Amino acid sequence: MRKKIIAGNWKMNKTPSETKEFITALRPRVANTDNIVICAVPFVCIPAALEAASGSNIAIAAENMHFEDKGAYTGEVSGAMLQDLGVKYVIIGHSERREYFAETNETVNKKAHQAFKYGITPIICVGESLEQRDQGVTAEHIRTQVKIALIGLSGEQVASLVIAYEPIWAIGTGRTATTEQAQEVCKIVRDTVCELYGSDVADKVLVQYGGSVSASNSKSLFDMADIDGGLVGGASLKLDDFEVIANYTK
Ligand code: 13P
Repeated sequence: MRKKIIAGNWKMNKTPSETKEFITALRPRVANTDNIVICAVPFVCIPAALEAASGSNIAIAAENMHFEDKGAYTGEVSGAMLQDLGVKYVIIGHSERREYFAETNETVNKKAHQAFKYGITPIICVGESLEQRDQGVTAEHIRTQVKIALIGLSGEQVASLVIAYEPIWAIGTGRTATTEQAQEVCKIVRDTVCELYGSDVADKVLVQYGGSVSASNSKSLFDMADIDGGLVGGASLKLDDFEVIANYTK
């Protein structure tokens, strides 16, 4: 059985001091869950987050990383830097990075390889726009994103990574995909992995849903067969809400 994996994506929210306060308060609230619990925090908050989470079951993720080892890339952060801090997960190819920072399927693929090079598990984001959904090309779009993101990765690597399906029209809008819509596309993600790597790998890969996940809708989403948890934006910034979401039980 796959574990559930619940990750908060803080985006550009909380200072290092607020990070310390939040994670210190979160620790006891999620201490008894078997789910994988992650907080993805801004780069400058990572040291405070790691310190506050030390010895707990909360893993800390970065929200992005560069695809080169080092060099003249002003403002960027490398896999080696994240590994040195002790970061275990990294979000790659979030739709906000694709939209505002010109990330492409190709850079997502390069970053996925780079994450593995430094022992960091990628959480690869895919998702369609409302226009693509209305045009009826969601499945094709998702399949393309998944296929290109995974080019050159081994079956063992793919079995260990996370793919987050986040329909762009559901992010920050309060308009969650229905459980059926979310399940349908998460299954498309898993089926695509199955075509490429076989059923053993597809049975292991963790597929999250993201987009207006809340304390009130998370259970019905995570109950679905191919949804292995969530990538949570706004609700992950609120202790009470994230506690409920992270403590999901069937
Ligand atoms: P919201 O939960 O705020 O809609 O954000 C989803 C998201 O983008 C998580 O990565």
